[in-house]
Amino acid sequence: PAAAATAPAVPTPLMGEALAERFTDVRAFTETLVEPLSPEDCVVQPMPDASPAKWHLAHTTWFFEAFLLKPYLSKYPIFHPKFGFLFNSYYNALGPRHARAARGMLTRPSLEEVCDYRAHVDRHMAELLAQNESAETARLIEVGLHHEQQHQELLLTDIKYTLWRNPLRPAYRDGTSNDEQVEREAPASFDIPHSSFTQFSEGLYEVGRDTGAFCYDNEQPRHRVWRDAFELADRPVTSGEWAAFIEDGGYRRPELWLSAGWAAVQREGWEAPLYWERQKGGGWRTFTLSGMAPVEPAEPVCHVNYYEADAFARWAGLSEPGLRLPTEQEWEIAADASGYDPAAGDTADGGRLHPIAPAPGPGLRGLAGGVWEWTASPYIAYPGYAPPAGALGEYNGKFMCDQWVLRGGSCATSATHLRSTYRNFFPADARWQFSGLRLAR
Ligand code: AVJ
Ligand code: FE
Repeated sequence: PAAAATAPAVPTPLMGEALAERFTDVRAFTETLVEPLSPEDCVVQPMPDASPAKWHLAHTTWFFEAFLLKPYLSKYPIFHPKFGFLFNSYYNALGPRHARAARGMLTRPSLEEVCDYRAHVDRHMAELLAQNESAETARLIEVGLHHEQQHQELLLTDIKYTLWRNPLRPAYRDGTSNDEQVEREAPASFDIPHSSFTQFSEGLYEVGRDTGAFCYDNEQPRHRVWRDAFELADRPVTSGEWAAFIEDGGYRRPELWLSAGWAAVQREGWEAPLYWERQKGGGWRTFTLSGMAPVEPAEPVCHVNYYEADAFARWAGLSEPGLRLPTEQEWEIAADASGYDPAAGDTADGGRLHPIAPAPGPGLRGLAGGVWEWTASPYIAYPGYAPPAGALGEYNGKFMCDQWVLRGGSCATSATHLRSTYRNFFPADARWQFSGLRLAR
């Protein structure tokens, strides 16, 4: 029998040169991501959930200052006494902070000063890394780097939303800012193979992480779960299938929606995924980080929220009874059985930054990267979970209420940030992440 839940194993941290190298790489990648942006692009906050790029640059830097340099580097000269107030996101244990919804008011410090802040912290982090670091600081540095990778993805989703709010629909990079130029004919037909399903038998499984490299506290402890037999679709739901849902009145039929979802549809006027627009000649186009582009029927549908994913599953279940969203446990069991491999996935490393249809092939495809997949699981603690002591205990645990788990990673996540046990989470109405779904039954 599988082992009962035990105290979580402490992961072995990266140390020495491997850690220093990863530090340089991750910090540099953030700066690569802001290269295409103007200083003006970096200041705007288009909604409370989407932070300015400048704030992401500074907040990730503050994280190293607050959790590493202040406590562990002797005589560390703090860069600016007010930056803790400006760039602390939500850590009550670290003191009061600037209001989240007012991050776009920070015309000062300038972008240049924020870049100086990054350089200052990097210089002192190099000093700390050169010292014979303890397992404790190594572990904290790794948290800081995974934290920065989370913000790299947020920076991309937030700048996408910012640029979309501009009627010129400017591309983040490689695109056209003139949306008329990409008006194209609608594809004649949606040539999408019907999805097939992979079967999993009933049994006692284990989920969660207990050994090896880094993981977040919310992935622990590893524990047993009983699952009845289930089947998981071999690929995420496509944009073509979503277009069929729309044409069949998906957004106009209250019987398909959770009550809160239907209220949100009416309040917000949702008629399609975020960023979709009807083309004059029929079909859809969508805003991407490369500008406006036709919606490709075979690519995974993206920028739908939990309510929409749930309504779609209910609609799909009208023709094929039993279809639903998978639970996070089912998702992880299937991912582990099929050799979940972020290095081979559609991630930020590929640089396309828009989900692509997974390559044809047998078995489960597109699990790593592409789109985050909504699960039917509420984001709650695993049995035996305890948040870590101190301010870092606020990192994940205090958000375990009214949010839903997403699995797998997206085209904006770095491959080195992902693993099969990774639990992302967002509220049911969040649409601006690269979020889609996969069906189960
Ligand atoms: C896991 C993506 C919901 O956006 O607050 C960033 C990631 N945690 N800084 C979030 C995170 C701390 C988190 N999400
Ligand atoms: Fe953060």
